[in-house]
Amino acid sequence: MLEVQFEKSNLKTSKADVSVVFIINKNFKHHWIKAQNFKSFGYEGLGAFFDQAEKTLYFGIECFDGNLLAEAGTHAVRFIKKMPFKSFKIGVYGDGATMGKVVLGALLGAYEFDAYKSEKKTLHLKKMIIANESYESPKAIAAKDLASLEENIQKAKILAQSITLTRDVINTPPEEATPKFLSKLAQKIAKENKLSCTIGDKKFLQKEKMGAFLAVNRASVHSPYLIHLAYKPKKPKAKIVLVGKGLTYDSGGLSLKPADYMVTMKADKSGGCAVLGIMNAIANMRVDVEVHGIVGASENMIGGNAYKPDDVLISREGKSIEVRNTDAEGRLVLADCLSYAQDLKPDYLIDFATLTGACVVALGEYTSGVMGHNEALKDRFENLAIQSGELAAKLPFNRHLKKLIDSKIADVCNVASSRYGGAITAGLFLSEFIREAFKDKWLHIDIAGPAFVEKEWDINTFGASGAGVRAGVEFVLDVAKKG
Ligand code: BES
Ligand code: ZN
Ligand code: ZN
Repeated sequence: MLEVQFEKSNLKTSKADVSVVFIINKNFKHHWIKAQNFKSFGYEGLGAFFDQAEKTLYFGIECFDGNLLAEAGTHAVRFIKKMPFKSFKIGVYGDGATMGKVVLGALLGAYEFDAYKSEKKTLHLKKMIIANESYESPKAIAAKDLASLEENIQKAKILAQSITLTRDVINTPPEEATPKFLSKLAQKIAKENKLSCTIGDKKFLQKEKMGAFLAVNRASVHSPYLIHLAYKPKKPKAKIVLVGKGLTYDSGGLSLKPADYMVTMKADKSGGCAVLGIMNAIANMRVDVEVHGIVGASENMIGGNAYKPDDVLISREGKSIEVRNTDAEGRLVLADCLSYAQDLKPDYLIDFATLTGACVVALGEYTSGVMGHNEALKDRFENLAIQSGELAAKLPFNRHLKKLIDSKIADVCNVASSRYGGAITAGLFLSEFIREAFKDKWLHIDIAGPAFVEKEWDINTFGASGAGVRAGVEFVLDVAKKG
């Protein structure tokens, strides 16, 4: 990761190989932009323009907005890292929180997953220098704002490191990133951050009567694990339990996916990996909230002992489930993990999952779906996610959709009788396993859209995005402030 350094000197006197200047709303009149005719180069003030003589990269965005600045930070680093420069400098844009976004964007601009390339690209770019100069006027930052700036830079570094960790494991191929691999990673995160970590193996799942989770795993040669990380500060203001879908591969099972739909299903562990990333970030930020991270890790495969459409499973909550489609496996794993999670008596219970293709159809591939029974809680999460730079939108439950998961032979069916509203009926299935006392405390976040990126967008490059990490961390930090 790039080193980030704050310098007391102004932009002009700071020593770096290149300067980065953001042009906002095509306003070239800034004091540090040398009078020169950008237009003669055909540059209108949007996107990148590199002035070789001045060694300055100009990057234009439409308006002053933290998330646009984050994206500009990503683009700036992607541009500079192609050249042999070792460092770049930049002024201060807006308040500490805004600048934190610029730093996060810049740090992630350096992200590339090349673990499986024989030839690794060497990153010449090593350092980002933040000069003590406001972009609005050639003034140094007031001392009172410096503390916030430094705090936000620190937060951005932790977030970037956590998102990198999440992306790396999601990008790792399924034959390597097995449930055991996720368990080992969780133990490593726990050790490095003084978290407690318990790993429940197949015997544990059997003892816990997790019939739904176990069925999904049956045809896999890789054993399932229930990972449980916990961060317990001395005086916690609240208890949050996060649950993640950790399907290290989803072939669809006997209801096999078509070949084209199976590719990228290594990313079906994205919810679980986001939970690991959030736990890593929270432990580093030392917040006053007790946070648990639970990951249901398994593969969904085919074979002679695979679970079948027509099977009836008994879940940990005791409810029976008619299986009509083995590709609706995430909800089965989550049903048992959510049951386990409620025993921890959380004040907030949030699951993250690449649960349905229907969510991508509903909201597009950039937005996560937010579901639950508590309107205020859904609003809170949606707003915090957007504030964090992720896109999220509520999908409403209703009683008509709920009837679609009725089963003739069991308590509930794992797929709806209509394919319309599939993201919501999947959420309603999960709701069947949430006890009355926790209905208002629970949120389901479907990250199927943004979790895996096939064409780069925003601060995300090809591959895993780390969706859920920024939003989840923002939520925990908000609970630390307000309870
Ligand atoms: N892992 C998939 C959902 C998914 C699809 C995630 C595309 C990311 C991108 C999930 O397990 C699944 O297969 N869901 C089915 C449900 C259906 C059988 C009711 C789906 O969405 O088609
Ligand atoms: Zn599936
Ligand atoms: Zn799946």
